[in-house]
Amino acid sequence: MPNLDASASGTFAIGGDLTVNRLGFGAMRITGEGIWGPPKDRDEAIRVLKRLPDIGVNFIDTAESYGPYISEELIGEALAPYDKGTIVATKSGLTRTGPGEWPVLGRPEFLRQGVLMSLRRLKLERLDLWQLHRIDDKTPREDQFGVIAEMQKEGLIRHAGLSEVSVDDIKEASKHFKVATVQNLYNFANRKSEAVLKYCEENGIGFIPWFPLAGGELVEGHAEAKAIMDKHGASGSQIALAWLLKRSKVMLPIPGTGKVKHLEDNVAAAGIDLSDDEFATLDKIAG
Ligand SMILES: NC(=O)c1ccc[n+]([C@@H]2O[C@H](COP(=O)([O-])OP(=O)(O)OC[C@H]3O[C@@H](n4cnc5c(N)ncnc54)[C@H](OP(=O)(O)O)[C@@H]3O)[C@@H](O)[C@H]2O)c1
Repeated sequence: MPNLDASASGTFAIGGDLTVNRLGFGAMRITGEGIWGPPKDRDEAIRVLKRLPDIGVNFIDTAESYGPYISEELIGEALAPYDKGTIVATKSGLTRTGPGEWPVLGRPEFLRQGVLMSLRRLKLERLDLWQLHRIDDKTPREDQFGVIAEMQKEGLIRHAGLSEVSVDDIKEASKHFKVATVQNLYNFANRKSEAVLKYCEENGIGFIPWFPLAGGELVEGHAEAKAIMDKHGASGSQIALAWLLKRSKVMLPIPGTGKVKHLEDNVAAAGIDLSDDEFATLDKIAG
């Protein structure tokens, strides 16, 4: 069994000064079905959150829209005042009109309300990392990026990031504020954001791949990959996570779960050290 310590994944300094262990936790799954309402097993969700600092996970990703509000409320309840140095990154910019529904809303007053309410729920004075969940096509971009810059100046937000964006979007936003992180769909089986990852590497921007566990089945179904799994005594999804961690120094995977057992399985992947040959073999399969 690989080592159970997220610090084995190495560190990354978000915005150049906010150092976290690279293997983090996504807090979307500690909510109900359709990411709506409370989780089925609330006590287990709290246990998951309380376990994080014990196993070196000090970077949590959440959003006001998860639940909505439930994920942030549970994090505030379980972990505030974050005395073990846990960093919570959150997001706004989506409304919720029902289970599985996420209309985009980037009006500056809504983004400001999002930040102020996240501060209350997370029991924080300032958000270390706040990310625009989606750029809203119906709201002028300078209004959305402008209010982010304002909230940074006011000290409500320390670092700011974007989600589901292109390289051009990052460049445009960078005229208003320093883009510290980008959160795009990326995993072993889906590498559509390769150009964005490259731009992040070149510019010291943290790249947070969401849905990081996908591709585990692809690993399991492949003979050469199976040999790598067996050598490391690891599952397909653990190998998919280890592959992500080796793929780039700016990669900050945030696997999510509402179960302690699954959390521990995922964190164990931080201790899997793939050789260059193994990485190349897996890269070929994934590509
Ligand atoms: N920016 C965005 O637009 C965006 C979109 C989606 C997600 N996100 C963020 O990214 C995070 C991760 O994304 P994700 O939750 O979609 O994908 P993921 O972490 O790759 O997968 C989560 C799913 O895998 C299951 N799982 C987790 N660990 C497992 C294990 N060891 N064994 C078996 N099953 C396991 C979970 O169910 P169980 O609870 O049963 O373990 C859940 O159904 C989210 O939590 C959220 O913070 C961001």
